[in-house]
Amino acid sequence: MQYQPSSSHAPSYAPMGSALIQVEHLSHTIITKKQNIPILHDISFVVPEASLFVINGPSGSGKSTLLNMLTGIDRPTSGRILFAGEEIRAKGEDQLAKWRGRHVGIVFQFFQLILTLSAQENVLLAMELGGCRLPRRTWRQHALSCLNTVGLGAFAKRLPSELSGGQQQRVAIARALANDPPVLIADEPTGNLDSQSAQAIFQIFVQLTSHGKTIIYVTHDPTLARRASSGIELSDGRIVQSLPGSMSGGMQ
Ligand SMILES: Nc1ncnc2c1ncn2[C@@H]1O[C@H](COP(=O)(O)OP(=O)(O)OP(=O)(O)O)[C@@H](O)[C@H]1O
Ligand SMILES: [Mg+2]
Repeated sequence: MQYQPSSSHAPSYAPMGSALIQVEHLSHTIITKKQNIPILHDISFVVPEASLFVINGPSGSGKSTLLNMLTGIDRPTSGRILFAGEEIRAKGEDQLAKWRGRHVGIVFQFFQLILTLSAQENVLLAMELGGCRLPRRTWRQHALSCLNTVGLGAFAKRLPSELSGGQQQRVAIARALANDPPVLIADEPTGNLDSQSAQAIFQIFVQLTSHGKTIIYVTHDPTLARRASSGIELSDGRIVQSLPGSMSGGMQ
């Protein structure tokens, strides 16, 4: 199934597959002293398990805002998000931080590695912060195996400054995998890379989905958007297009 970005206002509704994430009637308004700014309007979709799910749309359409809701970094004004049937919103801040550490790996456009730590130490830090449950004596080996997953085992001792942009992003993916979350969420993960490095990153995502991970990504690159197995397109905070499998018939 190929994603066709379009400005059509006719979303397609397909029977729900195995939904890992369900977003139901989510709306978000930013409230400032001067005004209320509506950002997202009645968004409903499902993310099938092990899918490569794209969120597409023009600048300012609400993609990053929506990702922040999916990671639990921000809470929607109304509506709800169910993650494997469990509502994210119901958790307190402490609980939510722990939940995020185990359930969601986040990949940023500008990598955001700790520059004074080696590739392996960056992964180890994520294990520490995410409350890794593996026995401590196995941590270094586990960090190395995360780096091997992205083809960078041999670069474990290097600092970020000794790696190319594409390699730094691969370390960032290894870090996101540190606590074996079922979902990776990536906001423009290839936005800062040349097309060859972007393809390499994408290939890793494809491989990860074949091992059962769900990848939710935002991209402006139409070639990478078309490779999604599922997804939605936003415009002005509304869904204007969706791939089959992204909409739940029961929610309309
Ligand atoms: N804190 C804020 N205060 C006011 N408006 C905001 C705030 N954060 C986001 N917005 C507005 O919300 C809208 C959606 O922003 P968002 O960052 O989600 O867009 P985006 O689709 O990720 O854009 P881009 O492709 O440029 O990253 C924009 O119009 C933006 O100006
Ligand atoms: Mg954005």
